[in-house]
Amino acid sequence: MIRVGLVPGDGVGPEVVGEARRVLEAVAAAGLADLSFREFPHGADHFLATGETLGDEAFAALRDEVDVILLGAVGDRRVPDNRHAHDILLGLRFRLDLYVNFRPARLRDARFSPLRAASDAPIDFVIFRENTEGAYSGAGGGIRGGTPQEIAVGENFATRWGVERIVRAAFEYAERTDRRLVTLADKANAIPQVYGLWRRVFDEVAAEFPSVEAERQYVDALAMDLVRRPARYGVIVTDNLFGDILSDLAAELVGGLGLAPSANYRPDGPGLFEPVHGSAPDLAGRGEANPLAAILSAALLLEHVGAGEGGRAVDAAVTAALRADVVTPDLGGSRTTSEVGQWIADRIGSAG
Ligand code: NAD
Ligand code: IPM
Ligand code: MN
Repeated sequence: MIRVGLVPGDGVGPEVVGEARRVLEAVAAAGLADLSFREFPHGADHFLATGETLGDEAFAALRDEVDVILLGAVGDRRVPDNRHAHDILLGLRFRLDLYVNFRPARLRDARFSPLRAASDAPIDFVIFRENTEGAYSGAGGGIRGGTPQEIAVGENFATRWGVERIVRAAFEYAERTDRRLVTLADKANAIPQVYGLWRRVFDEVAAEFPSVEAERQYVDALAMDLVRRPARYGVIVTDNLFGDILSDLAAELVGGLGLAPSANYRPDGPGLFEPVHGSAPDLAGRGEANPLAAILSAALLLEHVGAGEGGRAVDAAVTAALRADVVTPDLGGSRTTSEVGQWIADRIGSAG
């Protein structure tokens, strides 16, 4: 029995997680996985009502009493500093040491890319985002607040072991999945301390994988080239902040945030699965949010827990929904969030 913890969160989070759960239940009913669910209320409403962001008890339950977590999104204008989102999302990533943030970008149908030449070559690459260090460190502070002389400091850092483990995860993945090229995205020209370390470690690890081509690029040039020649890329490894930015760009290349899943994990450890997108307050409550990013995150979850057949069934059903134009308005369709989720669940039921 795989125990799935659900953290629907804010905005469209509950809507898309509801559909992902429906799809997971269909996978279980088809005999492709043995799953149980436990829902956690943490998010903005819960914080505003109780003052709790993610307390030690809830954290311990998410660590010890479930095997994997599926999260919707956290972020709400009523919490201006987004403190709850920080404690819940970054808190889980850091405290569970989920150092790999895996963000695939695969174009399933050229119609959904904004790129003119998208049908010429397949766009299919994966971002390995370092998920526990960098500019997200939380180290820093401010003085002279409220004066024209205000100073704010936020520290970016990298550790040799932290860089090494994410770079190694990227190369191992490339080798295992026959991806030819691993690209490091850094900014060693402007910030040589931190990204000089990234480059040295990247070169050392690359030398252990002679069958995989390795290259380094400055992140600004890479952002440009991802629009120009996206099919060239296989695996991109980068730090926390650059990975955040590049993954929204990557999502748009293949159909937008409504289609972009992600996995936060440690190999052979726990995992937190979530769409790349946020709480999309502009769409909340309208039944227009695309549930596919959450559903594809559930597919990654199934793979992570060893239910690969279930994951592949979900993936195939999503591709079928796109082909059949069973899609929400962001992809030019007129289906609601739950119509898309139900169609995919039915498809899995009838295939199983
Ligand atoms: P967002 O991802 O919520 O929205 C960006 C754009 O994408 C909006 O136009 C939105 O309508 C669209 N979009 C997002 N999800 C969609 C979906 N499922 N279907 C169709 N369209 C979709 O980013 P934002 O507006 O910058 O952030 C809103 C809030 O979410 C903020 O509080 C932010 O901090 C938070 N956030 C949370 C997460 C997370 O929990 N993982 C991720 C990103 C942003
Ligand atoms: C993401 C989000 C988060 C991040 C925010 C909400 C803290 O943008 O998961 O991509 O920056 O990691
Ligand atoms: Mn982001």
